[in-house]
Amino acid sequence: MKGIVLAGGKGSRLYPATKVISKQLLPVYDKPLIYYPLSVLLLAGIRDILIISDPISLAQYKMLLGSGEKWGIRFTYAIQEYPRGLAEAFIIGEEFIGQSDVCLVLGDNVFYGNITDLMRKALSLKNSGAVVFGYPVQNPSDFGVIELDRSGNILSIEEKPENPKSKFAVPGLYLYNHDVVEIAKGIQPSARGELEITAVNDEYLKQGRLSCQLLGRGFAWLDTGTPKGLLRASQFVETVQERQGMYIAALEEIAWRQGFIKTEELIELGEQLRMTDYGKYLMSLVEGKSD
Ligand code: DAU
Repeated sequence: MKGIVLAGGKGSRLYPATKVISKQLLPVYDKPLIYYPLSVLLLAGIRDILIISDPISLAQYKMLLGSGEKWGIRFTYAIQEYPRGLAEAFIIGEEFIGQSDVCLVLGDNVFYGNITDLMRKALSLKNSGAVVFGYPVQNPSDFGVIELDRSGNILSIEEKPENPKSKFAVPGLYLYNHDVVEIAKGIQPSARGELEITAVNDEYLKQGRLSCQLLGRGFAWLDTGTPKGLLRASQFVETVQERQGMYIAALEEIAWRQGFIKTEELIELGEQLRMTDYGKYLMSLVEGKSD
C-alpha cells in the first residue's frame, strides 16, 4: 500500500499565523504538524509516500523531509496549484498510485492510540473497496458525518450536514483500492466549489464497497483547525510525552521500531539533534532507557 499526505490548503482559519507559512509546518508542541499524519503512515508500514502541497510550501517540505532515505522510506512530491478539494489528491497522484491500494491522510490530522492495530483491522475490512473511520464528536456539523445501523453497516455519509444524522465525524484518514482515481475523476465540485472526499466515499457507498471502523476509547483524534485546537493539541502531546516519557510521532523512532533503519542510523539521527530533548530521547531509546 502507498500513502498520500495532503498538505496544502489555505489555512485561512489560522490567519495571520498561516499567511506566509503552510499550516502543516506549524509546530504541535515540539515537531511540525505534518509529522503526526506521517507517523500514521509509518506505523501502518507504508514506506512509499507522496506529499502534495502548493508550489511555495512544497519546497519547504522538501527541505524538511528530503528524500526520506534517512528514515528508510521514500518521499515523492507533487504540486497542487490551488486547493480544489481533497479528492484532487487522487487525480494529482494518479501516476504515483498506479495499480496500488492507497491510504490518504490529511496533513492537519493528529491521531493518538494504537494506530498499528487500527490500521491492521482496517486493512482487513478494505477488500476491493474503501474504508473510512468514525469518531464521536460534539460538533459533527463541522466534519464529514457517517450514519451507521446497529450492525455497523453504513447508511449515509454527508459533508458538514446542518442536521447531522449521527455524532460520528469522519477523520482525515482513508483507505482505498486503486479505483479511487477513476472515481475521483468522475465527481463534480460541491456547492463550495471543491472536489469533496465525501463525494468519493459516497460513490463507494453506492457501489456497496465502503466500510467503516469506529475509533473508540483509547483513541484521540485532535482538531488543529483553529488557534485553540492547535494549542490544545500541543498541550496534549506535551502532557503525554512528559508523563509517559514516550514520544508521539517521533518519526526516527517509528522508522527504527519498524525496522526501516538500523540502530546505528538511529544513533546518528539522534546525535544530530542532541541539543534538544527530542534528540536526547532518540539517543535514550538505544541506551535502553525508554523501551
Ligand atoms: O479533518 C477531517 C475533515 O477534513 C473531514 O471530516 C471532512 O469530511 C473533510 O472534508 C475535511 O474537512 P475540512 O473542511 O476540515 O478540510 P480542510 O479544507 O480544512 O482541509 C483539510 C486538510 O487538507 C488541510 O490540511 C488542508 C488540506 N487541503 C485542503 C484542500 C481543500 C489541501 O491540501 N488541498 C485542498 O484542496
